[in-house]
Amino acid sequence: MIQKAAFVISNSNPGNCPKPDRAEIAFIGRSNVGKSSLINMLVNQKGLAKTSQKPGKTQLINHFIINDKWYLVDLPGYGFAKVNLKVKQGWESMITTYLTKRENLCGVFVLIDSRLEPQQIDLEFLLWCGTKEVPTALVFTKADKQSKSKTDQNISKFLNKTREIFEEEPDYFVTSAEASTGKAELTKFIEELVTE
Ligand code: GTP
Ligand code: MG
Repeated sequence: MIQKAAFVISNSNPGNCPKPDRAEIAFIGRSNVGKSSLINMLVNQKGLAKTSQKPGKTQLINHFIINDKWYLVDLPGYGFAKVNLKVKQGWESMITTYLTKRENLCGVFVLIDSRLEPQQIDLEFLLWCGTKEVPTALVFTKADKQSKSKTDQNISKFLNKTREIFEEEPDYFVTSAEASTGKAELTKFIEELVTE
């Protein structure tokens, strides 16, 4: 159970992140997919991670400490078109450096918008994670936005695509930050990861 959650620090330089002396998990995905909202849902605090209707809200590597024991990290989104190329490249290199160099990282949750057909940018990102041996699981977000059958359809199309990337089917979760869907399952999985 997540009983306690507090903000620790924001960084643009992965080298300045807290000492890697405890387990850490991170949330990543396209801008606006619902990373910060999902974190708030998991920790039962509406405003802990900053959210916005406009994409591009989270711009730094944000560390939170959970139950005084492990780190949870909110990252900026990828694929946000409305910033200039330099800024975009800066975010990308911050994210890729963080994901490949962070030695205490035990799980990366790649969030996918459950309303959409498989998106090339998500598949490319997953492929990159695969080649870099970044430990990934999938989270299909915003499930409250459409019928369960539509969600299931999109997920099954997405999983079909991932067969071209991963040998085994990735672990995946279906969530809604609005309706707290998937909270228990995802929390249990995370707790197993951080206590391994
Ligand atoms: P960036 O930080 O910009 O990369 O975005 P993000 O991925 O952190 O998304 P954020 O949590 O800020 O949410 C973006 C928008 O989607 C906000 O308006 C949220 O209220 C909305 N949203 C997030 N999750 C859900 C959900 O499960 N259901 C619904 N209906 N809306 C959601
Ligand atoms: Mg965010």
